[in-house]
Amino acid sequence: MMNKAYTEAQMKINEYLQSYFIHYENKYEKKFNEIINYSLMNGGKRLRPVLFYKTVEILKGDVEKNLDLACSIEMIHTYSLIHDDLPAMDDDDYRRGKLSSHKVYGEAMAILSGDALLNKAYEILFNKIFEHSDDHDLIKACRLIADFAGNHGMIGGQVVDIETEYSDISNDDLHYIIENKTAKLIIASIVSAGHVCHMSDEYIELLKKAAYHIGYSFQLIDDYLDVVGDSKIIGKSTGKDNALGKNTYVKYNGIEKTKKDAYEHLENAKNYLFLIKGYEWKFFIDLIEYLKNREK
Ligand code: IPE
Ligand code: IPE
Ligand code: MG
Ligand code: MG
Ligand code: MG
Repeated sequence: MMNKAYTEAQMKINEYLQSYFIHYENKYEKKFNEIINYSLMNGGKRLRPVLFYKTVEILKGDVEKNLDLACSIEMIHTYSLIHDDLPAMDDDDYRRGKLSSHKVYGEAMAILSGDALLNKAYEILFNKIFEHSDDHDLIKACRLIADFAGNHGMIGGQVVDIETEYSDISNDDLHYIIENKTAKLIIASIVSAGHVCHMSDEYIELLKKAAYHIGYSFQLIDDYLDVVGDSKIIGKSTGKDNALGKNTYVKYNGIEKTKKDAYEHLENAKNYLFLIKGYEWKFFIDLIEYLKNREK
Protein backbone atom coordinates (compact mmCIF):
# COMPACT_ATOMS: atom_id res chain seq x y z
CA MET A 1 0.00 0.00 0.00
CA MET A 2 1.10 3.53 -0.70
CA ASN A 3 1.55 5.69 2.37
CA LYS A 4 -0.30 8.80 3.45
CA ALA A 5 2.18 11.22 1.89
CA TYR A 6 1.77 9.49 -1.47
CA THR A 7 -2.02 9.40 -1.22
CA GLU A 8 -2.18 13.08 -0.33
CA ALA A 9 -0.10 14.07 -3.34
CA GLN A 10 -2.17 11.75 -5.51
CA MET A 11 -5.39 13.40 -4.33
CA LYS A 12 -4.05 16.89 -5.06
CA ILE A 13 -3.10 15.79 -8.54
CA ASN A 14 -6.43 14.12 -9.18
CA GLU A 15 -8.25 17.24 -8.08
CA TYR A 16 -6.24 19.40 -10.47
CA LEU A 17 -6.42 16.91 -13.34
CA GLN A 18 -10.18 16.94 -13.06
CA SER A 19 -10.33 20.63 -13.90
CA TYR A 20 -9.03 20.39 -17.47
CA PHE A 21 -11.63 18.66 -19.60
CA ILE A 22 -14.90 20.15 -18.37
CA HIS A 23 -15.72 23.02 -20.73
CA TYR A 24 -17.62 22.40 -23.93
CA GLU A 25 -19.38 24.27 -26.67
CA ASN A 26 -21.64 21.57 -28.01
CA LYS A 27 -22.73 18.00 -27.40
CA TYR A 28 -19.75 16.61 -29.32
CA GLU A 29 -17.24 18.38 -27.14
CA LYS A 30 -19.20 17.28 -24.09
CA LYS A 31 -19.01 13.68 -25.18
CA PHE A 32 -15.33 14.00 -26.09
CA ASN A 33 -14.55 15.37 -22.60
CA GLU A 34 -16.27 12.30 -21.21
CA ILE A 35 -14.12 10.05 -23.41
CA ILE A 36 -10.90 11.78 -22.33
CA ASN A 37 -11.86 11.71 -18.66
CA TYR A 38 -12.76 8.03 -18.92
CA SER A 39 -9.06 7.32 -19.40
CA LEU A 40 -7.61 10.19 -17.41
CA MET A 41 -9.75 10.16 -14.28
CA ASN A 42 -9.55 6.60 -13.05
CA GLY A 43 -7.38 4.17 -11.15
CA GLY A 44 -3.96 5.34 -12.35
CA LYS A 45 -1.25 5.29 -9.69
CA ARG A 46 -0.11 8.79 -10.72
CA LEU A 47 3.47 7.76 -10.11
CA ARG A 48 5.02 10.29 -12.50
CA PRO A 49 3.16 13.40 -11.29
CA VAL A 50 3.64 12.26 -7.67
CA LEU A 51 7.38 11.96 -8.32
CA PHE A 52 7.39 15.47 -9.78
CA TYR A 53 5.28 16.85 -6.93
CA LYS A 54 7.26 15.28 -4.10
CA THR A 55 10.60 16.17 -5.69
CA VAL A 56 9.52 19.81 -5.88
CA GLU A 57 8.39 19.63 -2.26
CA ILE A 58 11.62 18.03 -1.05
CA LEU A 59 13.72 20.58 -2.93
CA LYS A 60 11.67 23.33 -1.26
CA GLY A 61 10.02 24.59 -4.43
CA ASP A 62 6.44 25.79 -4.78
CA VAL A 63 4.30 22.68 -5.17
CA GLU A 64 0.97 24.45 -5.71
CA LYS A 65 2.31 26.65 -8.49
CA ASN A 66 3.67 23.66 -10.35
CA LEU A 67 0.67 21.35 -10.21
CA ASP A 68 -0.02 22.16 -13.85
CA LEU A 69 3.34 20.68 -14.87
CA ALA A 70 2.59 17.57 -12.86
CA CYS A 71 -0.70 17.26 -14.76
CA SER A 72 0.99 17.73 -18.12
CA ILE A 73 3.24 14.75 -17.39
CA GLU A 74 0.30 12.56 -16.38
CA MET A 75 -1.54 13.59 -19.58
CA ILE A 76 1.42 12.48 -21.70
CA HIS A 77 1.53 9.20 -19.80
CA THR A 78 -2.22 8.59 -20.13
CA TYR A 79 -2.14 9.30 -23.86
CA SER A 80 0.70 6.79 -24.20
CA LEU A 81 -1.41 4.13 -22.46
CA ILE A 82 -4.49 4.75 -24.62
CA HIS A 83 -2.41 4.39 -27.76
CA ASP A 84 -0.37 1.47 -26.34
CA ASP A 85 -3.62 -0.50 -25.91
CA LEU A 86 -4.89 0.01 -29.46
CA PRO A 87 -5.24 -3.06 -31.70
CA ALA A 88 -2.36 -1.79 -33.85
CA MET A 89 -0.09 -1.79 -30.81
CA ASP A 90 -0.55 -4.12 -27.80
CA ASP A 91 -4.25 -4.79 -28.43
CA ASP A 92 -5.24 -4.74 -24.78
CA ASP A 93 -8.86 -4.82 -23.69
CA TYR A 94 -8.31 -3.69 -20.11
CA ARG A 95 -6.59 -0.72 -18.56
CA ARG A 96 -6.74 0.66 -15.06
CA GLY A 97 -9.36 -1.89 -14.09
CA LYS A 98 -11.80 -1.04 -16.87
CA LEU A 99 -12.27 -1.75 -20.56
CA SER A 100 -9.72 0.20 -22.56
CA SER A 101 -10.84 3.36 -24.33
CA HIS A 102 -11.11 1.86 -27.80
CA LYS A 103 -13.25 -1.02 -26.48
CA VAL A 104 -15.80 1.46 -25.17
CA TYR A 105 -15.62 4.36 -27.62
CA GLY A 106 -14.03 2.86 -30.70
CA GLU A 107 -10.56 3.29 -32.15
CA ALA A 108 -11.10 6.70 -33.72
CA MET A 109 -12.16 8.30 -30.46
CA ALA A 110 -9.40 6.51 -28.54
CA ILE A 111 -6.79 7.85 -30.97
CA LEU A 112 -8.24 11.35 -30.82
CA SER A 113 -8.48 11.38 -27.03
CA GLY A 114 -4.80 10.40 -26.84
CA ASP A 115 -4.01 13.20 -29.30
CA ALA A 116 -6.02 15.66 -27.22
CA LEU A 117 -4.20 14.72 -24.03
CA LEU A 118 -0.83 15.12 -25.68
CA ASN A 119 -1.87 18.45 -27.13
CA LYS A 120 -3.21 19.72 -23.81
CA ALA A 121 0.07 18.78 -22.17
CA TYR A 122 1.96 21.05 -24.58
CA GLU A 123 -0.60 23.82 -24.12
CA ILE A 124 0.19 23.65 -20.40
CA LEU A 125 3.93 23.79 -21.08
CA PHE A 126 3.54 26.78 -23.42
CA ASN A 127 1.32 28.61 -20.93
CA LYS A 128 3.93 28.04 -18.28
CA ILE A 129 6.68 29.45 -20.44
CA PHE A 130 4.49 32.39 -21.42
CA GLU A 131 3.87 33.22 -17.75
CA HIS A 132 7.51 32.81 -16.68
CA SER A 133 9.45 33.71 -19.79
CA ASP A 134 12.38 34.99 -17.71
CA ASP A 135 12.83 31.72 -15.83
CA HIS A 136 15.43 29.82 -17.79
CA ASP A 137 15.34 26.77 -15.51
CA LEU A 138 11.59 26.47 -15.89
CA ILE A 139 11.96 26.52 -19.67
CA LYS A 140 14.59 23.78 -19.31
CA ALA A 141 12.06 21.71 -17.35
CA CYS A 142 9.46 22.08 -20.11
CA ARG A 143 11.99 21.25 -22.80
CA LEU A 144 13.07 18.12 -20.95
CA ILE A 145 9.49 16.85 -20.67
CA ALA A 146 8.96 17.39 -24.41
CA ASP A 147 12.30 15.82 -25.30
CA PHE A 148 11.96 12.69 -23.17
CA ALA A 149 8.40 12.02 -24.33
CA GLY A 150 9.54 12.06 -27.95
CA ASN A 151 11.38 9.97 -30.47
CA HIS A 152 14.60 9.84 -28.46
CA GLY A 153 12.44 9.02 -25.47
CA MET A 154 9.11 7.35 -24.79
CA ILE A 155 7.96 7.18 -28.40
CA GLY A 156 11.35 5.88 -29.54
CA GLY A 157 11.13 3.10 -26.99
CA GLN A 158 7.61 2.21 -28.13
CA VAL A 159 8.85 2.03 -31.74
CA VAL A 160 11.52 -0.54 -30.92
CA ASP A 161 9.13 -2.44 -28.61
CA ILE A 162 6.69 -2.84 -31.51
CA GLU A 163 9.21 -3.33 -34.30
CA THR A 164 10.96 -6.20 -32.52
CA GLU A 165 7.93 -8.30 -31.56
CA TYR A 166 8.41 -12.03 -32.22
CA SER A 167 12.16 -11.71 -32.77
CA ASP A 168 15.24 -11.87 -30.60
CA ILE A 169 17.24 -8.72 -30.00
CA SER A 170 20.63 -7.71 -28.61
CA ASN A 171 21.13 -6.71 -25.03
CA ASP A 172 21.70 -3.12 -26.20
CA ASP A 173 18.35 -3.05 -27.96
CA LEU A 174 16.56 -4.52 -24.93
CA HIS A 175 18.20 -1.87 -22.81
CA TYR A 176 17.14 0.82 -25.29
CA ILE A 177 13.49 -0.28 -25.09
CA ILE A 178 13.39 -0.18 -21.29
CA GLU A 179 15.30 3.05 -20.94
CA ASN A 180 13.25 4.87 -23.53
CA LYS A 181 9.70 3.62 -23.37
CA THR A 182 9.53 3.84 -19.59
CA ALA A 183 12.55 5.29 -17.80
CA LYS A 184 12.68 8.51 -19.83
CA LEU A 185 9.29 9.86 -18.74
CA ILE A 186 10.09 8.96 -15.14
CA ILE A 187 13.46 10.73 -15.45
CA ALA A 188 11.67 13.75 -16.94
CA SER A 189 9.26 13.78 -13.98
CA ILE A 190 12.02 13.96 -11.37
CA VAL A 191 14.62 16.00 -13.22
CA SER A 192 12.16 18.63 -14.45
CA ALA A 193 11.24 19.12 -10.78
CA GLY A 194 14.93 19.69 -10.12
CA HIS A 195 15.05 22.36 -12.84
CA VAL A 196 11.94 24.07 -11.52
CA CYS A 197 13.70 24.28 -8.14
CA HIS A 198 16.86 25.74 -9.73
CA MET A 199 19.13 22.89 -8.73
CA SER A 200 22.82 23.06 -9.63
CA ASP A 201 24.11 21.08 -12.61
CA GLU A 202 25.88 18.75 -10.21
CA TYR A 203 22.69 17.91 -8.34
CA ILE A 204 20.70 17.64 -11.58
CA GLU A 205 23.14 14.93 -12.71
CA LEU A 206 22.62 13.00 -9.47
CA LEU A 207 18.84 13.36 -9.69
CA LYS A 208 19.03 12.07 -13.25
CA LYS A 209 20.96 8.99 -12.17
CA ALA A 210 18.59 8.23 -9.31
CA ALA A 211 15.58 8.73 -11.59
CA TYR A 212 17.10 6.50 -14.25
CA HIS A 213 17.34 3.60 -11.81
CA ILE A 214 13.79 4.14 -10.54
CA GLY A 215 12.50 4.29 -14.10
CA TYR A 216 14.43 1.25 -15.25
CA SER A 217 13.28 -0.83 -12.30
CA PHE A 218 9.72 0.24 -12.94
CA GLN A 219 9.62 -1.48 -16.32
CA LEU A 220 11.36 -4.58 -14.95
CA ILE A 221 8.64 -4.92 -12.35
CA ASP A 222 5.96 -4.21 -14.97
CA ASP A 223 7.39 -7.09 -17.03
CA TYR A 224 7.55 -9.27 -13.91
CA LEU A 225 3.93 -8.49 -13.00
CA ASP A 226 2.80 -9.40 -16.51
CA VAL A 227 3.94 -12.94 -15.70
CA VAL A 228 3.21 -13.37 -12.00
CA GLY A 229 0.71 -10.58 -11.25
CA ASP A 230 -3.00 -10.80 -10.60
CA SER A 231 -4.92 -9.09 -13.40
CA LYS A 232 -7.68 -8.09 -10.97
CA ILE A 233 -5.15 -6.21 -8.87
CA ILE A 234 -3.06 -4.69 -11.67
CA GLY A 235 -6.15 -3.73 -13.62
CA LYS A 236 -4.82 -4.98 -16.96
CA SER A 237 -4.54 -8.34 -18.69
CA THR A 238 -1.58 -10.54 -17.78
CA GLY A 239 0.45 -12.94 -19.90
CA LYS A 240 0.27 -10.55 -22.82
CA ASP A 241 3.99 -9.96 -23.29
CA ASN A 242 4.75 -13.58 -24.03
CA ALA A 243 1.68 -13.90 -26.25
CA LEU A 244 2.82 -10.91 -28.30
CA GLY A 245 6.45 -12.05 -28.51
CA LYS A 246 7.57 -8.95 -26.61
CA ASN A 247 11.20 -8.44 -25.77
CA THR A 248 10.92 -8.00 -22.05
CA TYR A 249 13.59 -8.22 -19.38
CA VAL A 250 11.88 -11.39 -18.15
CA LYS A 251 12.21 -13.05 -21.57
CA TYR A 252 16.01 -12.91 -21.34
CA ASN A 253 16.58 -13.10 -17.61
CA GLY A 254 13.72 -15.05 -16.05
CA ILE A 255 11.46 -13.82 -13.29
CA GLU A 256 13.80 -14.27 -10.34
CA LYS A 257 16.69 -12.34 -11.84
CA THR A 258 14.31 -9.67 -13.08
CA LYS A 259 13.09 -9.08 -9.57
CA LYS A 260 16.60 -9.17 -8.15
CA ASP A 261 17.90 -6.68 -10.73
CA ALA A 262 14.92 -4.39 -10.17
CA TYR A 263 15.78 -4.32 -6.45
CA GLU A 264 19.36 -3.54 -7.27
CA HIS A 265 18.34 -0.61 -9.46
CA LEU A 266 16.17 0.71 -6.65
CA GLU A 267 19.04 0.44 -4.19
CA ASN A 268 21.26 2.33 -6.63
CA ALA A 269 18.61 5.03 -6.87
CA LYS A 270 18.65 5.43 -3.10
CA ASN A 271 22.42 5.77 -3.05
CA TYR A 272 22.37 8.54 -5.65
CA LEU A 273 19.70 10.43 -3.72
CA PHE A 274 21.81 10.26 -0.55
CA LEU A 275 24.57 12.09 -2.44
CA ILE A 276 22.24 15.07 -2.78
CA LYS A 277 22.98 16.58 0.60
CA GLY A 278 20.86 18.90 2.64
CA TYR A 279 17.46 17.46 1.75
CA GLU A 280 15.14 14.96 3.42
CA TRP A 281 14.74 11.93 1.12
CA LYS A 282 12.52 9.86 3.41
CA PHE A 283 9.57 9.97 1.03
CA PHE A 284 11.72 8.39 -1.68
CA ILE A 285 13.10 5.74 0.66
CA ASP A 286 9.54 4.70 1.52
CA LEU A 287 8.47 4.90 -2.11
CA ILE A 288 11.34 2.64 -3.14
CA GLU A 289 10.18 0.02 -0.62
CA TYR A 290 6.67 0.30 -2.03
CA LEU A 291 7.96 -0.06 -5.61
CA LYS A 292 9.91 -3.20 -4.71
CA ASN A 293 6.78 -4.91 -3.50
CA ARG A 294 4.15 -3.36 -5.68
CA GLU A 295 1.40 -5.62 -6.94
CA LYS A 296 -0.06 -3.08 -9.37
C1 IPE B 1 2.20 1.43 -17.11
O1 IPE B 1 2.45 2.51 -16.28
C2 IPE B 1 3.02 1.53 -18.34
C3 IPE B 1 4.45 1.49 -18.12
C4 IPE B 1 5.23 2.43 -18.53
C5 IPE B 1 5.06 0.36 -17.45
P1 IPE B 1 1.84 2.59 -14.81
O2 IPE B 1 2.04 1.27 -14.13
O3 IPE B 1 2.38 3.79 -14.14
O4 IPE B 1 0.28 2.76 -15.08
P2 IPE B 1 -0.84 3.57 -14.31
O5 IPE B 1 -0.62 5.02 -14.64
O6 IPE B 1 -0.71 3.31 -12.84
O7 IPE B 1 -2.11 3.06 -14.87
C1 IPE C 1 4.26 0.58 -22.11
O1 IPE C 1 4.87 -0.62 -21.83
C2 IPE C 1 5.13 1.73 -22.03
C3 IPE C 1 4.42 2.93 -22.52
C4 IPE C 1 5.11 3.93 -22.90
C5 IPE C 1 2.95 3.00 -22.60
P1 IPE C 1 3.85 -1.83 -21.73
O2 IPE C 1 3.15 -2.05 -23.01
O3 IPE C 1 4.53 -2.96 -21.08
O4 IPE C 1 2.79 -1.21 -20.67
P2 IPE C 1 1.49 -1.97 -20.19
O5 IPE C 1 1.96 -3.27 -19.57
O6 IPE C 1 0.62 -2.18 -21.38
O7 IPE C 1 0.93 -1.04 -19.17
MG1 MG D 1 3.47 -1.71 -25.00
MG1 MG E 1 1.04 -2.55 -23.29
MG1 MG F 1 3.73 -4.22 -19.59
